[in-house]
Amino acid sequence: MVFMGVDIETVVGRLLASAYSRSRMYTEREGKRLPVRWIFFRLRKYIDSFLRGNRLNRLVLVPGLRGVGKTTLLWQLYRYLVEERKVDPRNVLVVSADELKVLGFSVLDAVQAYERLLGKPLDALDRDVFVFIDEATFDPQWQLVIKSAIYDRTDRVFTLVTGSSALALRITTDLARRSVIERLFPLNYSEYLMVKYGVKPPRGFTSRLRTAVLGSKGAEEAYSRLRELSSDLLSLQVSLKGIDFKGHLEMFLKIGGLPFSALEGEEALPRVYDVVKRVLFHDLPALYGFDRETCEGAMRVLASLATSHPERVNITNLSKDIGLSRATVYSVLRALVDSELIFPVPPHVKGKALARKPRKYYFTTPTVRAAILQALGWTLDTRDALAAMLEDAVAATLHRLTYTGPLIGLHYDPQGADLVAIARTPTGPRPIPVEVGWGKKDGKQAEKTAKRLGATYAVIVDDSDAPHTLGNVVWVPKHVFLLL
Ligand SMILES: Nc1ncnc2c1ncn2[C@@H]1O[C@H](COP(=O)(O)OP(=O)(O)OP(=O)(O)O)[C@@H](O)[C@H]1O
Ligand SMILES: [Mg+2]
Repeated sequence: MVFMGVDIETVVGRLLASAYSRSRMYTEREGKRLPVRWIFFRLRKYIDSFLRGNRLNRLVLVPGLRGVGKTTLLWQLYRYLVEERKVDPRNVLVVSADELKVLGFSVLDAVQAYERLLGKPLDALDRDVFVFIDEATFDPQWQLVIKSAIYDRTDRVFTLVTGSSALALRITTDLARRSVIERLFPLNYSEYLMVKYGVKPPRGFTSRLRTAVLGSKGAEEAYSRLRELSSDLLSLQVSLKGIDFKGHLEMFLKIGGLPFSALEGEEALPRVYDVVKRVLFHDLPALYGFDRETCEGAMRVLASLATSHPERVNITNLSKDIGLSRATVYSVLRALVDSELIFPVPPHVKGKALARKPRKYYFTTPTVRAAILQALGWTLDTRDALAAMLEDAVAATLHRLTYTGPLIGLHYDPQGADLVAIARTPTGPRPIPVEVGWGKKDGKQAEKTAKRLGATYAVIVDDSDAPHTLGNVVWVPKHVFLLL
């Protein structure tokens, strides 16, 4: 195929030739290297292991929200390969399915052209080759291509693929068996502190905090474990120098969820809003075939979610409010979840009742809520806005833990608690009700919920300065909880 006189081999050849200078463009600002996210180290481990000859985890999928840093991550890994591991740049192909599509080419076209440029079919390779495919979801054939054009033909190619979370959701069992999924989440408070100030909590802190909050037998044990963390918290505060890490939390909620706004501050919120618009008006039409009217409906859905406190969403009412059919509202919500702008939390009920019960929806990062609110002309410093953003952050923290192991599920309690985290314990799943409050919150409601759910303790995340406990409730200060 030829596009405006350019054939795919020329395109791939140019991509290879310009890769190093592009890698610097993507990974530096004003001559300084951008910080790496934690996921960088996890992916580097897969690469190191591949370079040692271990062929097991040679296909890694990285789904994530737009603007969360996927492309930057790819180029940081590219530089690691070329600069530190001295891999010949000709053996690393970085392509974006989205950009190929604009040129009229597919991922398969690029892979085949690359093969011709390598001068050898992939199944006859005598060296290690890396293929990084950015925004793969824009190529409807991506799964097939990776499986039959790469993975099944050779074990000498390490493939790294990014895309929206549809990447992971729609994956067929065939490819699922072959791949590792490493999600790139928005930043939590501790990653924010690392990216922005280069400060990390002491070693082992996070896992001890997790054990305290989610793995204790009762409130008393949770409390005493939390107290044991106070010297770590103090040293974190000391390394932050002038920044009060409790007081700074508001700033994190507003801007901290995405790396660029974290670094640039509140002036960057309009650009976060641009990310939202790009998802709605570029991705949704391309990936779901939404027409303009549906996309505008999706914007109204987001506006409605952003301007109300996280609560269960009644589809019938929402559909009336924004003037779209129930079926369209369903598909809009699904697409917004797929693109990781929001995520659903089902109620804590058993069996058939679940299907009929409404879900709560949270923003995957409070920063997206902040950007939408600001674009709608709201002030971010009101108690209502901050309380909603805090609950987003708490829910997002717990949501992430359902992917990384400590939690089996996350629900809300139809009769009370904001959230119910289902902890994975040696003796089986255990519910922990979690209440969130911007100010100070008393324990009555949480206490009752814990009893009703048969939970040994409940957690309150609020404005407390230090952990405390009363009855079967433990209070965790919000700035501590968000380090989870
Ligand atoms: N680790 C980081 N440190 C600092 N800034 C970062 C980091 N990662 C990404 N950024 C900045 O955030 C912005 C978005 O990053 P990037 O393009 O990598 O995200 P993405 O997930 O690929 O987004 P998209 O889905 O829109 O392609 C860029 O301005 C980038 O420089
Ligand atoms: Mg990108």
